[in-house]
Amino acid sequence: MPAPIAALLLDWYDKNARALPWRAPPGSTLPPDPYRVWLSEVMLQQTTVAAVKAYFRRFTTLWPTVDSLAAAPDAAVMAEWAGLGYYARARNLLKCARKIAARGAFPTTRDALQTLPGIGPYTAAAIAAIAFNQPATVVDGNVERVISRLFAVTAPLPKSKPELTRLAATLTPFNRPGDFAQAMMDLGATICAPRNPACALCPLTAQCQARALGLEGQLPAKTSKPAKPTRQGAVWVAYQPDGAILLEDRPPKGLLGGMPGLPGNGWDGHGGPEPLDLAWQRVAEVRHTFTHFHLVLQVMAAPAPPGANPLRGSFRHTAATGLPTLMKKAVQAAQAVRKAP
Ligand code: ADE
Repeated sequence: MPAPIAALLLDWYDKNARALPWRAPPGSTLPPDPYRVWLSEVMLQQTTVAAVKAYFRRFTTLWPTVDSLAAAPDAAVMAEWAGLGYYARARNLLKCARKIAARGAFPTTRDALQTLPGIGPYTAAAIAAIAFNQPATVVDGNVERVISRLFAVTAPLPKSKPELTRLAATLTPFNRPGDFAQAMMDLGATICAPRNPACALCPLTAQCQARALGLEGQLPAKTSKPAKPTRQGAVWVAYQPDGAILLEDRPPKGLLGGMPGLPGNGWDGHGGPEPLDLAWQRVAEVRHTFTHFHLVLQVMAAPAPPGANPLRGSFRHTAATGLPTLMKKAVQAAQAVRKAP
């Protein structure tokens, strides 16, 4: 009888697992720390492994346990999250840490995990499998690709997702389900790549129905998404002689919620007229893509006198690291012009 798919994949993972800072090595006898698993899975929602690594190291150095994170001031956590995007995750991370600290430990089942802030079905399954060795089926974008090829599912995503989840569940083993989940992710990330999959190196090449049909390059099929609209806007960078910049706290909910930002003209649904009557100059155009739209932002800059009294916001010294990426880009563009000879 041919080796079942899970056994082939786990054998491949034992030799080829990516070394990632939140992982226990494959087959490790030490159980993984649920705090590190949870933190990494929240960071990895909609964000690449490459982007997450440094943030994960920094968070776990500053806050090595869920109790220490729960006790951290909100502003410190938001500032450390700056640049990682999807800021609701950071707000929910704190809410969740405080709930866990209050109850004493992470719940261990998928259903109970899913009741916590910021933990949806995917993240609950990943934590249950990786931290608590439960045979939960974990389906991210990489796994969707592997499964759609393995079973030659030609129906397009996202409609095919329930079918892909059902098929993935037929493979999930009782033995080492956490390693199996991560092996699927690694296979999708390194071998079963979106373009030019390295089928010659794949442990499942003989089982792959797409490969047998010559369809591996065409799957998964995807329903084309409507094009994102482009919004135009402007922000004002007022800087004082000592380098302090006019910033305001964004509303806790919504785009870049709870983060500091530059006053804007309403491109994001709030804002208004110039926050100060200054000799504004247009210094740059910054482009940024959000989940639902592209943004073209005009950056207006002007020196402000030390006693300036803005309509909104306050002058602050911020190493630009505490700003979301879009705001950082705008501040850096203004600073570059200011420093230019
Ligand atoms: N993406 C989401 N969770 C992951 C994990 N545990 N390892 C690698 N990539 C992931």
